Amino acid sequence: CFFSLLPTCIWFMDSSFVLRPPGHSRICPSIKSLLNVKWLKRPGPTTDEVVKCGVPSILLKVLGFSIWGSSQISYYGSITIGTPPQTFQVLFDTGSANLWVDSVYCNTQACNAHTKFNSTKSSTYSSTTKTFYISYGTGSLYGIFGYDSVNVSGIVIKKQIFGLSTNEPGQTFLQAQFDGILGLSYPSIAAGQATPVMDNMMQQGLLQDNLFAFYLSRNGQQGSEVAFGGVDSTKYNSQIYWSPVTSQTYWQIEIKGYGLFCGCQAIVDTGTSFLTCPQQYMGYLMQAIGAQADQFGGYYVNCNANNLPTLSFNINGVNFPLPPSAYILVVSSNWHTQAIQPLWILGDVFLKEYYSVYDRANNQVGFAQAV
Ligand SMILES: *[C@@H]1O[C@H](CO)[C@@H](O)[C@H](O)[C@H]1NC(C)=O
Ligand SMILES: *[C@@H]1O[C@H](CO)[C@@H](O)[C@H](O)[C@H]1NC(C)=O
Repeated sequence: CFFSLLPTCIWFMDSSFVLRPPGHSRICPSIKSLLNVKWLKRPGPTTDEVVKCGVPSILLKVLGFSIWGSSQISYYGSITIGTPPQTFQVLFDTGSANLWVDSVYCNTQACNAHTKFNSTKSSTYSSTTKTFYISYGTGSLYGIFGYDSVNVSGIVIKKQIFGLSTNEPGQTFLQAQFDGILGLSYPSIAAGQATPVMDNMMQQGLLQDNLFAFYLSRNGQQGSEVAFGGVDSTKYNSQIYWSPVTSQTYWQIEIKGYGLFCGCQAIVDTGTSFLTCPQQYMGYLMQAIGAQADQFGGYYVNCNANNLPTLSFNINGVNFPLPPSAYILVVSSNWHTQAIQPLWILGDVFLKEYYSVYDRANNQVGFAQAV
């Protein structure tokens, strides 16, 4: 059912919707960075393999892919660091604020499987003695900060602080297709008070407008992109509906509606594959979907069910429907769900349906119907 045709997407809105103008009177040229899309197939179970339809609602934040699912997707793109440039694949993550890449200081299995930054090869590098630790739910790493030039699709940031990994324990990053993470959250949640890439872009006057925007392709197709400094109007076909940021930490907004779920806080996170909800809402949500729980805590629906509801998220007075084709995933093994965080996360499941704009100048998030 994951690949079934999109049901007619009902684009309805309350009469009371508030349209917040973006504060930009013109469509600005943006600098786009194409993101690669890769399916990562995990080895499935050797016995008892059954195809089930899981509802990927509640998962840990696991960096663009799920450790529980049988097939995962992550969106990442190229940047260069240093002079001459060393190229890295990074996850563009609106759910964290630090830039880090693998480095030659790290010799764990996860680091050795990836491209590593070698600071002695860069004439513009300057070192620090400041170390850091970052935990991302299931994955964590240790590192040391340094400064160097960073080139994001032609936007060249001077003296960008970034992390060079020194230890990546565990399996999480071993399976990742990317060599590091480029965090796009607010500076308040950056480890080591390291200035995020976006803040340096703004301070160094590198952007036409102080915003960035994501288009995430569906079904593993190419064409996903992140745009800095403007929006790409070829990637959406409705107006942009804005919602104020309620806490300048993550890209946190308020969602209302959907029956029982009133006045919840949600974060908009390109680094989370799915849609997550707080534990206390899980039962209600699964009941609304009609999913059955199994003894392992997984939730399933019949793959052939054609009467599944369209979920609707009311964000600042506008309803954003999410059809079953967007939230149902075919899984080939037992599906586990787990909730550890108190927030809803609008992850890639939502962001594939809606083009998203992250406006630092006006501290608001915009959504429009993705093409
Ligand atoms: C880092 O680069 C230097 C200078 O080119 C080289 O001598 C050294 O072997 C490199 N280190 C690693 C671990 O590749
Ligand atoms: C930055 O990267 C772009 C390609 O994305 C390249 O054309 C440009 O020359 C680079 N600029 C610098 C200063 O390295």
